[in-house]
Amino acid sequence: MTRKHALVTGGAGFIGSHLVDVLLERGFQVSVLDCLKPQVHADAQVDEDGWPIYLDARARRIRGDLLTDGVFEGALVGVTHLAHLAASVGVGQSMTDIVDYTRNNTLTAAMMLEALARGGHTVERIAVASSMSIYGEGAYVSEAGPAAPPLRGHAQLAERRWEVEDEAGRALVPIPTDETKLLQPASIYAVNKRDHEEMFLAVGRALAIPTVALRLFNAYGSRQALSNPYTGVAAIFISRLLNDRPPLVFEDGEQMRDFVHVRDVARAFATVLESERTVYDYYNVGSGRPIGVNGIAAVLARLLHKNIAPEVLGRYRVGDIRHCFADIGKIGRDFGWRPEHRFETGMPELVEWVATASPPVDRGAASLDELAARRLVV
Ligand SMILES: NC(=O)c1ccc[n+]([C@@H]2O[C@H](COP(=O)([O-])OP(=O)(O)OC[C@H]3O[C@@H](n4cnc5c(N)ncnc54)[C@H](O)[C@@H]3O)[C@@H](O)[C@H]2O)c1
Repeated sequence: MTRKHALVTGGAGFIGSHLVDVLLERGFQVSVLDCLKPQVHADAQVDEDGWPIYLDARARRIRGDLLTDGVFEGALVGVTHLAHLAASVGVGQSMTDIVDYTRNNTLTAAMMLEALARGGHTVERIAVASSMSIYGEGAYVSEAGPAAPPLRGHAQLAERRWEVEDEAGRALVPIPTDETKLLQPASIYAVNKRDHEEMFLAVGRALAIPTVALRLFNAYGSRQALSNPYTGVAAIFISRLLNDRPPLVFEDGEQMRDFVHVRDVARAFATVLESERTVYDYYNVGSGRPIGVNGIAAVLARLLHKNIAPEVLGRYRVGDIRHCFADIGKIGRDFGWRPEHRFETGMPELVEWVATASPPVDRGAASLDELAARRLVV
């Protein structure tokens, strides 16, 4: 039997590099295609060729940009399993760099799919990284039953009424979001992710290449870019705390999210790639346990031995949702995947990694000023 060969686009990044580890552990030959975007890798410890030192040496490395004609086709030689994770990942940044985001997240998908449709390759199975952001607000219930409310309006937020309300002004109750929830993407990044998910599923089905889109909730763990102000809240809070500054919390900090350990995310990708199930579908990947943003700041301050309370800004980011946490029943039923890490046990590993990584540059306040100047923070 020929050995399975996985190509991981974005394999030098945070989630991609963990996926490389899991695939190697499971006996795959692994190739990585990555353009090593400076915004992601500028502060990382890299080797003489610019690759992050955490990337397993057994993975074949291809430095290239998916937007360059021929790069993807060149990397596909001998590949049986495709994991597409490369993307521009800043939700806030996507609202200003609209052309760049759409080019890098949606046009890349079009180029890859056209290459796959031309044939002459050996790809048998595809998994792509989608995002919880495509839901917009999470799922809620009102007195009248299940609700999929739109984003809160400016008038409500200007009055600092943070909870999602029904038409009578009563607060709705958040419940776990499952895959049947109406998609209401509220940022260009989310629109890109929805489009790219649907494009891969449509073309995968047409080409009879089983394809799975994983709707990732908030991933955390080692190798997360700490100085990139546009990405993960845990990493941003850690970089603030390490610089002896309070984490900056929007609204009242009681908004809930779902934090899933990066190893669990990588296992989910490996699991759907290894499966022989013929499937063209999307799945949530989260912890299934909600946690408030103030709670995250408190856990991180304790782990970093910093007696610093978060600075609750009472301001809001245009397009932010209030609550969203995952119902992870579907991927459990179809693939048997379940998270192995809990926030309390997974977070110390991130903190430990931060202590050994390069000192993070705190760009949190600068990015806040930039967003405020563009009226994206009010
Ligand atoms: N981190 C999260 O919490 C989260 C949540 C939901 C979805 N996702 C999705 O998961 C995927 C991975 O996210 P991440 O957090 O690891 O991001 P990351 O920024 O750490 O990694 C992305 C990698 O892709 C590379 N890349 C970007 N554009 C490229 C291009 N045109 N050609 C080649 N390489 C390119 C970058 O250099 C980087 O190494 C993304 O698709 C993202 O949208 C992540």
